[in-house]
Amino acid sequence: MLVEVIDTYELMSQRAAEIVAEQVHRKPTSVIGFATGSTPKRLYELLIQEHDERGLDFSKVTTFNLDEYVGLPPKHDQSYHYYMWENLFNHIDVNPSNVHIPHGMADDIDHFCAWYEEQIEAAGGIDLQILGIGANGHLAFNEPGSSLGSRTRIKTLTEKTVKDNARFFDDPDMVPEYAITMGIGTIMEADRLLLVASGERKAQAIRNTLEGPVTAMCPATIVQLHQHSHIIIDKDAATALDYRHHHGIAEPKE
Ligand code: PGA
Repeated sequence: MLVEVIDTYELMSQRAAEIVAEQVHRKPTSVIGFATGSTPKRLYELLIQEHDERGLDFSKVTTFNLDEYVGLPPKHDQSYHYYMWENLFNHIDVNPSNVHIPHGMADDIDHFCAWYEEQIEAAGGIDLQILGIGANGHLAFNEPGSSLGSRTRIKTLTEKTVKDNARFFDDPDMVPEYAITMGIGTIMEADRLLLVASGERKAQAIRNTLEGPVTAMCPATIVQLHQHSHIIIDKDAATALDYRHHHGIAEPKE
């Protein structure tokens, strides 16, 4: 586990962008796993900048997203399809036929999930998987209690997630109650993991993830068992760590 604590969200995003860009330069046919949420937004802006200003070429890259809400059409502004096209894919030269995002309107979800796993395998597996982390330690929509060996499947959203999401929807009937998510076992098969976290809101989850025991109650702790996991966090997300000095932060924990 390589842990880097970086001063600010901006510098953290720059470091993460460097790693993704380096992967794409080194292997233009890379398979990259993408995440949604607020944390990677700046990382994606910086990748767009790399593409515009330095010609970072995504034309041969294949992408797989971690998750998607069930029941939301891809054009819905809360769908993760919409998020990815708005925040990244519309602005780079990725080939749309190389983009994979779970299909929240699939008729047969179990069949779709099995197909998604097959597509990852057919692409040769994921070279680099970008990850965020929930304040409760979730990875993608693998909420606490998810099997650490799980594969891509449908999950029921927690009551809290459903409530939190309600504010984004004019029509209460559209608030998703289920999501399709890669499993923890699926995520663990990526060659490299790149987990980004920012802000004090994530400090406890980061502490559990890096210093706690591996447990399904904090799915992100599984990164401890991955041979090439790279965790990049800003100083605020590092405030609860006991071993901060080990990660280059000198001041003692209060
Ligand atoms: P956030 O979400 O980046 O919006 O905090 C991360 C997550 O819940 O996985």
